[in-house]
Amino acid sequence: MAVGGTGNLGSALAARFAQAGHDVVIGSRDAARAEQAAAALAGAIAGGGGRVSGAANADAVTAAQVVVVTVPFEAQEATLRGLADAVGERVVISTAVPLRYVEGIGPTHVDVEEGSASQQVARLLPRAPVVGALHTVSSATLARTEGRLDADVLMTGDDDAAKVVVARLLASLAGLRVVDAGPLRNSRYVEQVTVLLLSINKRVGATPVCASSTCRTSWLSRARTGESS
Ligand SMILES: NC(=O)c1ccc[n+]([C@@H]2O[C@H](COP(=O)([O-])OP(=O)(O)OC[C@H]3O[C@@H](n4cnc5c(N)ncnc54)[C@H](OP(=O)(O)O)[C@@H]3O)[C@@H](O)[C@H]2O)c1
Repeated sequence: MAVGGTGNLGSALAARFAQAGHDVVIGSRDAARAEQAAAALAGAIAGGGGRVSGAANADAVTAAQVVVVTVPFEAQEATLRGLADAVGERVVISTAVPLRYVEGIGPTHVDVEEGSASQQVARLLPRAPVVGALHTVSSATLARTEGRLDADVLMTGDDDAAKVVVARLLASLAGLRVVDAGPLRNSRYVEQVTVLLLSINKRVGATPVCASSTCRTSWLSRARTGESS
């Protein structure tokens, strides 16, 4: 299911999806690394219903119904350039936040020629319906599979049927609420607001990226009082 599935977000999502009963194929540039990650996850998920396996990215994509791209933005073009045929018309979830950390400033948005990282995915995978999602959900929160999620997912996309598939898939993770945030071009706002949230979290010391009502309260109260944790 995931390209770049050995990373923080990819492996945390793999764990959550498997726990929810979905079969997951972790993709990697290195098939052996993917298999290792899958074996580690399979052992760690207590009572999970889905099977977790690992494969090279192209094979993982071919085996999947939905492809989740979880590579750093700077690696996205190189990763996806060779995968267009393998992906074909599969539904693709784009998660990348184009940012860089600037010394003394913190997280800073990186301009994307296409308008957003999700629109870049759409250019690189021209037959696939691309849906932007999960940008504001923290991998650390996802990885704590013993805890219930409590977060809003802003979803963008131009293909209504693909959005239904993604919304159903994400709603199968208990505690995730999916909000339709409009067409794929709106992904730029979601990606940029994620940089803002990361920046606020860095200043006020709140839980890393998360859009739950609990976190919102925590950010606001801490921002107002200047409190840090
Ligand atoms: N972490 C979060 O909380 C979070 C939340 C929302 C969105 N996102 C987005 O999700 C994406 C992945 O974030 P992450 O924190 O999971 O990153 P990460 O831990 O660094 O993992 C990224 C994975 O991408 C693969 N990759 C492919 N080409 C790469 C390259 N040139 N350099 C480094 N890794 C490469 C690697 O897998 P192989 O080496 O096995 O191929 C690596 O395990 C980012 O675009 C980020 O903006 C992250």
